[in-house]
Amino acid sequence: MCGYIFINGKMAADNRAMLSVKDRGFLYGDGLYETMKSYRGSVFMVADHIDRLLNSMRVLRYNLTFDKEYINEAIKKTIARNNLDRTDAFVKVIVTRGIHGAGLYFSSSYRPSLIVIAEKIASQDSVDYKEGVKIISSSIRRPSMGNPLYPHKLINYFENIYAKDEAQRNGAKEAIFLTKDHLVLEGASSNIFYVKGNTVFTPPLTQNILPGITRKAVIDLCRENRIRVRERKVYYGDFVKADEIFKTSSIAEIVPVKKVDRFECGKRIPGDITLRIMELYRNRVSYQK
Ligand code: PDD
Repeated sequence: MCGYIFINGKMAADNRAMLSVKDRGFLYGDGLYETMKSYRGSVFMVADHIDRLLNSMRVLRYNLTFDKEYINEAIKKTIARNNLDRTDAFVKVIVTRGIHGAGLYFSSSYRPSLIVIAEKIASQDSVDYKEGVKIISSSIRRPSMGNPLYPHKLINYFENIYAKDEAQRNGAKEAIFLTKDHLVLEGASSNIFYVKGNTVFTPPLTQNILPGITRKAVIDLCRENRIRVRERKVYYGDFVKADEIFKTSSIAEIVPVKKVDRFECGKRIPGDITLRIMELYRNRVSYQK
């Protein structure tokens, strides 16, 4: 079956959706993207995803040739065109700066491309949710401050895919980025939480991490349900001694962690608080319509 891709205002069969090789997305990784999950045709926290994208476009000086409503309509059309109204789907929105031609700086003459891809989601590995996953520390050390690019979802994702490959080569599902001083920042494609006693901890957004939409949903759910949650620096030494660890991302949602490098975590997987948050999240996505 051939899917359809929204590309610059038109719907094209997926083998006919083309961009120029002179597009700066291809030449320099000069673009942004969002990955979201649609539940029976409705994207969870779609407004937050589009806001994050538009905010990055503003901060990184892309020309704002489309607005929130236009992106939202493009997403809806792509879901409908691919008959994904009754199933769960992966939705990816990509923006590139446009065709290169004015030096390396961010000229105001560029016209961004907007692409939306929507595909049925492969059934998720339920064992991961019941038994937890292994994660490793990436060999890449990142700074916790002084790089303004990490909070943006750049299509230039090489550091992340390199770390994902490190994880896979070591039989793990995720690799986490640490600083030279052993602070835990985030996963290659997820945000990281841990539980100690009755409190949930996660690194603060001031530490050059992606402001994850699932991270935000989890923090809100904790606050609404009187689960103590703190955004503060996470040291690797404390992290590996946590009672519970979980990672968050839009597609995988909330995934318990059973092992970090050589350290086993928690007595029971998922731990009580992780399980509670997983249930609260599941409830929220199923009542979003
Ligand atoms: N990745 N941190 C990084 C570096 C990420 O790439 C992602 C998302 C997250 C979680 O963000 P959110 O909750 O908004 O999905 C955190 C997705 C899965 C991706 O790249 O496709």
